[in-house]
Amino acid sequence: MPRHVLVAGGAGFIGSLTAKALLERGDQVTVLDNLSTGLLSQVPEGAAFVEASIGSRAEVAELLASSPIDACICFAGLIAAGESMTEPGRYFANNVGETTVLLEELINARVHEFVFSSSAAVYGEPLFTPMTETHPTQPTSVYGETKLMIEQVLAWMARQGSLRYVALRYFNAAGAVEGHAEAHEPETHLIPLAISAAKGERPPLQVFGSDYPTPDGTCIRDYIHINDLATAHLAALDSLAQGTTALVCNLGTSHGYSVREVLSAIEEVTGLVVPFTLANRRPGDPAELVASCDLARDVLGWVPTRSSLNQMIADAWHATKGDAV
Ligand code: UFG
Repeated sequence: MPRHVLVAGGAGFIGSLTAKALLERGDQVTVLDNLSTGLLSQVPEGAAFVEASIGSRAEVAELLASSPIDACICFAGLIAAGESMTEPGRYFANNVGETTVLLEELINARVHEFVFSSSAAVYGEPLFTPMTETHPTQPTSVYGETKLMIEQVLAWMARQGSLRYVALRYFNAAGAVEGHAEAHEPETHLIPLAISAAKGERPPLQVFGSDYPTPDGTCIRDYIHINDLATAHLAALDSLAQGTTALVCNLGTSHGYSVREVLSAIEEVTGLVVPFTLANRRPGDPAELVASCDLARDVLGWVPTRSSLNQMIADAWHATKGDAV
């Protein structure tokens, strides 16, 4: 049955993709976004749009009073782990304070189904790998702590019967859709930086650490295509509609690639050489982050379909050239 979904942060990259996928399957969508990092041009055609912050209580209450919303997906939040260490107050106020206001207003309006963008950053240093959802959570960044705090708020609200939720812990988002790559300013992510270096648009890539206890000495990560992340949110909504009360799920592929393997794959896909230098470790980087994805498969029926390393790199590469992917 078509539903009316509130997509908070739906002018952002993964939020707008998810909003589009919801519309394509016949759901009704209202996007709530303060456009602090999102773009109005990314809100898909067919979605209603309200420009406000998730922490603007009066505006959120008015929106919920005027539209009968069935469920909410929240992508809104600050996402830079490095920045969170220099501006902790802003991260706690935005990611924890504002999200809590949104949750309160949803409960007041009797919207009881909530999907939350969480992160592998909640785990901190891995004690074992692949990491299951039961792995201890000891975030090494303020960003990870803010995601964990909202997971705890959700767990308490669910325990009290106020709402039902799915928290999705993204591993390393990668790839591009329809010629659009995720762009950050400043860019800190490996794949876009390495592609720019290969194109000569940036200086050689700095490989942060080559003395990690991994086979080639560089960090291992589990990369997941943004399109697969978007479809996981639809599966999470479906599971809530079927009565799920509380679920925390990893979103990755269960396969890890080292920085050197990623650079080799970029060279293979693009036919260019990625110039790089070996640099010191970046503070806060764990040696290996690989998800166990059994729960997402078994409970949500979600299986990534576009997340082979070469496919993600090809999509990101074509997007930098403006090709449709
Ligand atoms: N790296 C380099 N050089 C660079 C950039 C990155 O060597 O110029 C390395 C990093 O040290 C790391 C790997 O490439 O080992 C991936 O780094 P990214 O910056 O692309 O991504 P992170 O693993 O640091 O973090 C991302 C998200 C986090 C999320 C995490 C979950 O940004 O929010 O994935 O796995 F928590």
